[in-house]
Amino acid sequence: MTDSHDDLAATPPLGWNSWNAFSCEVTEADIHAAADALVDTGLREAGYEYVVVDDCWMAGETDSEGRLLPSADFPNGMAALADYVHERGLKFGLYTSAGSHTCQGYPASLGREELHAKQFADWGVDYLKYDNCGDHRGRDAIDRYAAMGDALAAVNRDIVYSICEWGEHEPWRWGRNVGGHLWRATDDLVAKWRADRDEFGLGIADVLDRMAAIDAAAHGPGGWNDPDMLQIGTGPESGQSQHEPVDVQRPLTEAERRSHFAFWCLLAAPLMIGADLTSLSDFDRELLTNERLLAIDQDPLGVQGTPDRCDGDAEVWSKRLADGGAVAFHNLGDAKREISTHVSAVDVPGGADHYRVCDCWTSNEWETGGSLAMTVEPRDTAIVRVTPG
Ligand code: GAL
Repeated sequence: MTDSHDDLAATPPLGWNSWNAFSCEVTEADIHAAADALVDTGLREAGYEYVVVDDCWMAGETDSEGRLLPSADFPNGMAALADYVHERGLKFGLYTSAGSHTCQGYPASLGREELHAKQFADWGVDYLKYDNCGDHRGRDAIDRYAAMGDALAAVNRDIVYSICEWGEHEPWRWGRNVGGHLWRATDDLVAKWRADRDEFGLGIADVLDRMAAIDAAAHGPGGWNDPDMLQIGTGPESGQSQHEPVDVQRPLTEAERRSHFAFWCLLAAPLMIGADLTSLSDFDRELLTNERLLAIDQDPLGVQGTPDRCDGDAEVWSKRLADGGAVAFHNLGDAKREISTHVSAVDVPGGADHYRVCDCWTSNEWETGGSLAMTVEPRDTAIVRVTPG
């Protein structure tokens, strides 16, 4: 057991979740394959450690005491699956909901928090994603999420508590107090740059707009604002959205995927990969294992990056780091352009004569007295690490 709640998620959790690639069709074999692939692709080595089974792992009925039972798609049960994951040096996560049912209509955990928390601990669960679907029986969100937080705190096992309340009741204000280590701040992210208003989910840019507006005071070591799982390597082109209607998702371009990953790292977001890892492209694998980006995400200060300038097609965002800062230059337009700023206008410690700058995509390094300028392709994001002296 860790010494404190915060130690369990001192930096944003990194891992993989079944939902974006497998939706409600997930099976034990898919989880085995994902765990194996995390090892084989080098993703585990890069820091991705949680393997989380999302909705639909449970049978349609509980046992007579109200315990959750695995569906026939998990024939060896959840303790054996946890063992499989642990044997590969990874950690195991499960999903349930703070209501009568999950979003896909399976039995869930409201009113049975202690029973289910004990089951999860006995099975060897290390991470719980707790959704917001089903009948709430008149109980408010804080009360429902506190009940599971208390139940998890009472079991003799470290379990990261991932609150999935979609930001409806501003969980960044209470998520930490109910024992949460991360809390979804937004609706579901789909594999689009921007979603149409009348369709399900949000695009990357929609989520960024919301993240820029929410309170980041509680975000930091031990508790994280969560802009949802990554949509890198998902979408029709990758053959990974066979379970979603095609009009809901389209593949992100390489520039959009670079921007998506750069911004999630700049936000110090939990990074839960959503792709089918058995068919991950080289581009996506290299993106997800970029050590300069991961170091920005995992920086020990745990600061959430914020926008410094949004003017027309050019945005500059920055994030304070333990030894300096990270600065992102995002081109929202359709033409290649230069975007510039100065260290005094971003969240980088000032007062130095010189700064070292490192381009996180190319690893090129140079020095500056303070001016920063990057040429950026359409929809793309340049991101640099700036260190005084
Ligand atoms: C949604 C949640 C998704 C996924 C889905 C499963 O509420 O935001 O991330 O877990 O339910 O049904």
